[in-house]
Amino acid sequence: MFETLQAVPADAILGLGALFRADTNPGKVDLTVGVYRDGSGITPVMQAIAAAEREVIAQQKTKVYLPPRGIDGYLDETTRLVLGAEHSALERTASIQTPGGSGALRLAADLLLRAQPQQSLLISDPSWPNHRPLLSVAGMKVDSYPYFNTAQQSLQTAAMIDRLEQASAGTVVLLQASCHNPSGADPGEGEWRDIIECIERRRLLPFFDLAYQGLGESLTADAAPVRLAAQRLPEVLIAVSASKNFGLYRERTGALLIVTNERERRPVLESNLAQIARRIYSMPPAHGGLLAERVMTNAALRQSWQAELDAMAKRLRSLRAGLADALSAIDSDRDYGWLRKQRGMFSLLGLSPEQVARMRDQHHVYVVGDSRINIAGLTENTTEKVAQAIVAVSRS
Ligand code: LMR
Repeated sequence: MFETLQAVPADAILGLGALFRADTNPGKVDLTVGVYRDGSGITPVMQAIAAAEREVIAQQKTKVYLPPRGIDGYLDETTRLVLGAEHSALERTASIQTPGGSGALRLAADLLLRAQPQQSLLISDPSWPNHRPLLSVAGMKVDSYPYFNTAQQSLQTAAMIDRLEQASAGTVVLLQASCHNPSGADPGEGEWRDIIECIERRRLLPFFDLAYQGLGESLTADAAPVRLAAQRLPEVLIAVSASKNFGLYRERTGALLIVTNERERRPVLESNLAQIARRIYSMPPAHGGLLAERVMTNAALRQSWQAELDAMAKRLRSLRAGLADALSAIDSDRDYGWLRKQRGMFSLLGLSPEQVARMRDQHHVYVVGDSRINIAGLTENTTEKVAQAIVAVSRS
């Protein structure tokens, strides 16, 4: 049977981990996969999560199945975290717990195709390298809209809106609410208003990928475009990931939220989503959802979590500034203000694939093939070395 198959290339992001591990150079630096790291290079279990875990395990009496929709409390709290506790759409928002944000993207694709078999979707150019394969393998026709010019380090909001103006009604538009992956460049408040106004006028369907809430400016500011869209538009999809902001990466914890214009649509959507999930993986894993629920519902744990998340976001901003300073000191002819201004874990260096390979082979600094760096992979001790490598390969 399997003689027909051939090995496939390693994943554009995860595949670099194997190369990094095989490198014996003691000064190697990993700026590939988007995980937060502290000053010692560890991706820590957040303190509130560790405390919640102790309580959950002490009180746990069973590991019986969850229902396909997941944990009600986790879903209610996640909906409030994303939309805000006072949002008028809370009661009109359908939800299902998913295996991470990727699981939410896939469930949404299956639901959209069930509703409209010819469904097409636009993603940003550039976008997370897994967006297109994940959504197109589900059966969606995936195209792109201009978003970011890497050579100029500038957003292309006008070109983006021009492209959206040409899309036919019902086209799904995948948007990243904050900390854009891979560019780190987010539209400002006024630009978001223009984008949402265009989506409304053209009767397009916005689908937010919300993977970094709290790691840009704050939990509230990072969700602002989603909240605005949910106020203005009849339907909004949101894929939520708890990987980064709760540090629950391997627990595969996320949710798909769908804001609808009619409350009665909610049980219809939830029954369809539960059935789709049942036919793929039956039900989501429980552990991460139980921990996130506990953290969001316990005042002391919530306060500790928010403080730690704020400190993580602050550290990312300071690492950005440190790298921008180090680059400017070595290469005073260029302006690195863009790096300081961008937000979240990622930025694109604008290097060619050959330059990226030289970063790895000559300098032992690992970045993704599109020249995306994970800012959280830097430390105060490696920033100078990384800046030297960037300038060296960009000049050669
Ligand atoms: C990334 O972009 O590095 C993260 O979202 C992890 C992943 O699954 O690719």
